Amino acid sequence: MADTSPATPPAGVAADWTIPQDWAHYTPEDHATWDTLFARQAKLLPGRASDAWLRGLDVLKLSKPGIPDFEELSDRLMKLTGWQVVAVPGLVPDDVFFDHMANRRFVAGNFIRRPDQLDYLQEPDVFHDVFGHVPMLADPVFADYLEAYGRGGQRAMQHDALKYLGRLYWYTVEFGLIAEPDGLRIYGSGIVSSYAESRFALDDPSPHRLKFDLARVMRTDYRIDDFQQNYFVIPSFDELLRATVETDFAPLYEQIKQQPEIAVAQIVSDDEVITRGTQHYATAKTGAH
Ligand code: PHE
Ligand code: FE
Repeated sequence: MADTSPATPPAGVAADWTIPQDWAHYTPEDHATWDTLFARQAKLLPGRASDAWLRGLDVLKLSKPGIPDFEELSDRLMKLTGWQVVAVPGLVPDDVFFDHMANRRFVAGNFIRRPDQLDYLQEPDVFHDVFGHVPMLADPVFADYLEAYGRGGQRAMQHDALKYLGRLYWYTVEFGLIAEPDGLRIYGSGIVSSYAESRFALDDPSPHRLKFDLARVMRTDYRIDDFQQNYFVIPSFDELLRATVETDFAPLYEQIKQQPEIAVAQIVSDDEVITRGTQHYATAKTGAH
């Protein structure tokens, strides 16, 4: 994910903010952490993750034990969709993030969480970035969407509209749901890489599940500290690509800047509600202290 902070890379980091993955530096404990997380999620996700994500996991051979070697992974990905995975120390500046993405390079955190952080951590580590995001890059349509998003990011910076474009990323790439013939499925990496949210997002009666609408999503705030209170559902990746690529965002940004923000959990009159949540989970927490 992108960050707005420092412009100069720290010592030992290249001008484009990449670092060698240095696969040999991972300890047996690091690899064991990956394997534990992998086993737990891989068991949970058939029937929950989207077809595209499950296919990606398979064709990229991510079930091989240990933290994946980015070179090997990039070779496979390059043949499938022309994407590569490059290592970065953590969050990188927005312009760097978008430039890599527009050139089909996915930036992935190099480090792995500690064994006491299996369930949650705020910064994206190699498990979130590789297990969560990279399978989707093996899907040709999603691969095109992310490249277009990178170029869109460069444009949004000129329009002072990163807040709006960032929400699109959040509610699709990170927390998106898709309607498949057999029911709702997860494709957002923030959900597939989370043991608890991969159940909550689909099964819990608490969150709203609303049909994806581009302008609506861009007006909607989100929370970074807990499960989402609303998820947006796309009908297909083709439809997502069409809705975003065929729309000129510049006039849309100007329009949205004039409109009120939509709060998390708020339902507006134009919403197509797939499931109206009880919001019980979020309410119980705020009330409890
Ligand atoms: N169409 C968008 C623009 O005009 C670019 C974009 C495409 C953004 C796909 C996100 C996803 O800026
Ligand atoms: Fe992410």
